[in-house]
Amino acid sequence: MTKSEVIWMNGKLVPYAEATVHFLTPAMHYGLAVFEGIRCYDTTKGPAVFRLREHLQRFINSMKILGIEAVPYDLGTLRQAVHATIRANAFESCYIRPLMYMAEGGLGLNLDNLVPAVGIAVWDWGNFLGDEGLKKGIRAMVSSFTRHHPNISMTKAKISGNYVNSVMAKTLAIRAGFDEAIMLDPEGFVAECSGENIFLVRDNTIYTPPRAIVLEGITRDAIITIARDLGYRVIEELISRDQLYSADEVFVTGTAAECVGIREIDYRTVGEGAMGPVTSALQAEFFQTVIGKGERSAEWLDYVQSGESVQVA
Ligand SMILES: Cc1ncc(COP(=O)(O)O)c(C=O)c1O
Repeated sequence: MTKSEVIWMNGKLVPYAEATVHFLTPAMHYGLAVFEGIRCYDTTKGPAVFRLREHLQRFINSMKILGIEAVPYDLGTLRQAVHATIRANAFESCYIRPLMYMAEGGLGLNLDNLVPAVGIAVWDWGNFLGDEGLKKGIRAMVSSFTRHHPNISMTKAKISGNYVNSVMAKTLAIRAGFDEAIMLDPEGFVAECSGENIFLVRDNTIYTPPRAIVLEGITRDAIITIARDLGYRVIEELISRDQLYSADEVFVTGTAAECVGIREIDYRTVGEGAMGPVTSALQAEFFQTVIGKGERSAEWLDYVQSGESVQVA
């Protein structure tokens, strides 16, 4: 992780070391924050952000789901802020982390007394599951931690407090010697991983759990679109744990992890135990797309505009 020079904090770019919050910040005590994870890729036409509008719309939706009606910044302002932060740090490619956090108003449990604030950080971040995983596939275990019930912790919002569930599952998986945790929903069906959506391939058809029980991943949507463009059938339906064990291929998608195969689940080899042909084809087209060389690049890339620089406070 390469540290950035400046971080956007409520309309101003501030030096990295000064982007701090107070110990009594409500967000820290109750997880009252929402975030996004977005990637900017290096293209021949300069840095471009992958599906920025969709990510910022989900960011705003997450606030709404949490219960914040007066969203502090509109989508256009947030978009300009993301562009300005990338420009100011001069990254060709980077990971982008907008965070809305409840900044002030005491430690009562009523959102309506709290004041929201927004920060945007960028940093250089390679593939989340590692370059080797990207080529050979990763090893995963089905977690003993259950994924959120949609009526307990919302599954459509990237609310910071929700991620305690992901952190516990991922940490357990890594301590047990695996790379990632696959999480089942409260009914016992396959939901998603700690930070990725999951797919399986059987007889050249691609299956993934329905949107109702998972985070509506933007990479998930991109991969479904690319798969259909390439002529594959994609079916959204409930998947059981043993369907994963007997699949030809299993793969995961996410902004941080991109598109990665799973070669082993719970000590059972998936397919041939390597990244399969469908996963390879989708991964290849995805990587072409994000660098501006795919059929969908024009639709999905938001090139970082040269614009007025925001004053560093
Ligand atoms: C729980 C969970 N599922 C799926 C995803 C993948 O979503 P996206 O492709 O929009 O990054 C993420 C990452 O944001 C996640 O945290």
